[in-house]
Amino acid sequence: MRVAILISGGGSNMVALADSMVGDHPARPCLVLSNDPAAAGLVRAAERGIATAAVDHRPFRGDRAAFEAALADPLEAARPDLICLAGFMRILTAPFIDRRRGRILNIHPSLLPKYRGLDTHARAIAAGDAEAGCSVHEVTPELDDGPVLGQARVPVAPDDTPASLAARVLVMEHRLYPAVLRRVAEGDRTPLRLP
Ligand code: GAR
Repeated sequence: MRVAILISGGGSNMVALADSMVGDHPARPCLVLSNDPAAAGLVRAAERGIATAAVDHRPFRGDRAAFEAALADPLEAARPDLICLAGFMRILTAPFIDRRRGRILNIHPSLLPKYRGLDTHARAIAAGDAEAGCSVHEVTPELDDGPVLGQARVPVAPDDTPASLAARVLVMEHRLYPAVLRRVAEGDRTPLRLP
């Protein structure tokens, strides 16, 4: 099974996914693709011998369909069976998703359906939540929606800041996403719960 990973930034989840696809794992990374040519994750992927590509979204000036058409060129050339969004910070349109329905996964830093969108950790702290976490889900046209394939929980500490909570959740992201990817690659889409 061939896996393309889409990133926008540092790519720590991409690294966790890529490094998990070894040995008897049924999948291998075929491409790391970014909407930001300067994304640090592209270097980390290249260091691992993974093919990389970037399609800068900025020249498209909000024309999402045109951006996605350009994105589809290197993506389809890599012939992925699965597409993992890993800190990919562009909203994808319904036609792009529908053409790949069931084959796109995403990791989101909240316990969905809570806190779709941005600033998830600040919102969890402001709400006084006792626990936070992350979710891996199948991507559907609705933002941060779609069947949840796995969740990991962490406690919220009384003195947590959004940054300290994000760091604690990120540790669990790096465990959850590879675990869910492996299950999906093996044909198991029943929800996983960590720890
Ligand atoms: C991760 O925390 C991921 O859950 C989040 O961005 C970060 C990317 O870090 N994704 C979203 O907020 C998606 N809406 P990384 O580049 O080090 O993997």
